[in-house]
Amino acid sequence: MSAQYELIAPCFFGCESTASFELRRIGAEEIRVTDGRLTFRGGAEMIAAANLNLRTVERVMVLLASYPASTFDELFDGVYNIHWEELLPADAAIPVTGSSLDSQLTSVPACQSIIKKAIVKRMMQGYHTSVLPESGVEYRVRFMLRKNLCEIMLDTTGEGLYKRGYRRNAMEAPIRETLAATIADLGRVRRDSLVEDPFCGSGTLIIEAAQKALNIAPGLKRRFAAERYSFVPASVWAEQRQLALAQTRLDAGFEGIGYDIDPAAVALANANAKLAGVDKRCRFEVADVAQFEARPEAIVLTNPPYGERMGTIEGAARLARTLGRQMEAHPCQGLYAITADLEFESHYGKRANKRRKMYNGMIPCQLYMYYNVPNREQKPAAAAKPLPKTGFDGKRSYPTGRRPLRTDEK
Ligand SMILES: C[S@@+](CC[C@H](N)C(=O)[O-])C[C@H]1O[C@@H](n2cnc3c(N)ncnc32)[C@H](O)[C@@H]1O
Repeated sequence: MSAQYELIAPCFFGCESTASFELRRIGAEEIRVTDGRLTFRGGAEMIAAANLNLRTVERVMVLLASYPASTFDELFDGVYNIHWEELLPADAAIPVTGSSLDSQLTSVPACQSIIKKAIVKRMMQGYHTSVLPESGVEYRVRFMLRKNLCEIMLDTTGEGLYKRGYRRNAMEAPIRETLAATIADLGRVRRDSLVEDPFCGSGTLIIEAAQKALNIAPGLKRRFAAERYSFVPASVWAEQRQLALAQTRLDAGFEGIGYDIDPAAVALANANAKLAGVDKRCRFEVADVAQFEARPEAIVLTNPPYGERMGTIEGAARLARTLGRQMEAHPCQGLYAITADLEFESHYGKRANKRRKMYNGMIPCQLYMYYNVPNREQKPAAAAKPLPKTGFDGKRSYPTGRRPLRTDEK
């Protein structure tokens, strides 16, 4: 068995449960979930599999050390104790980046410099040399100081996992691919689903839903930092790519349709779908939301414009109202709308069955989930209740709705 590592995958707040399911699916062990991150164990195969297959996490890192550090000496010693010479070749280039929060060591540049010195000293000793040329492969070291606890990690991903390689260009205010994938999961997209998006922009929600339905691994079209690391051999990457490819289900009946009022967005979405390998299952057309007629069997995933990033607050409210009216006139399986509009429910005209806090990049949003509730579970008074307090920090749950089934409950 290859060496085993403790691995860390940060994800956006609100995406943890979906990410945890994905990890179980690829066979990760000892999964632990905390706010915005998952920790698990695995060897070189897991590093490759996680990077290639995970749709909802931001990157995958090897945790090399975790220890208390309130002084520079403690910081140095913790780094020096890591067996760098067993992980990194003598010519490795070693950039160090990181962050500090609520800790005594507040200067990030000073911490970077101490960590780098400790790595260099250890490497020189391990390789019996006084020169480290740093002319070879880049091994990106990250540190995180939180409440005087220091974590030293090695990045295996490189460019964030949200960079799938299919979105060369984006319109204004695109949704992150990782977040779109989480929404497709929460929307219970299946291999034979019909998914529609009346505000499709560059097509991210439809494309991510299609890739999920067809089980196309999101990392197949890109490269990863650890493809050049000596402890994750090329043969392991090749094998994991083959495995991921073999699991693609091009026979799935999925269909995706996106609409946008902007012809440039529609052209871009069509081009992105082609790059993503899902153009045979997806199409994008120019249309105003006022004409949107969801098909009864459709799941609608959407990211309506919101004032902060696009247009005006009033304009966004009007569009939410129009969407609400169209959805009422053309009911379907469910609507999952992510927006930063704190008053979305009142603009849309209906209370959601459930909401979930999420971040789109740095913007706090809510995912408003509307879905069919079986009669026996409906509470008669629910419709008459006033709209509850809204707002990103408003804590409440929606007991009226059936919890959306997760992919593992299929
Ligand atoms: C927040 S963006 C969607 C971004 C998209 N999720 C992506 O990843 O690129 C909202 C989109 O709504 C479109 N839009 C604005 N008004 C519209 C209308 N009346 N009908 C349909 N689409 C509209 C905009 O052109 C924009 O592309």
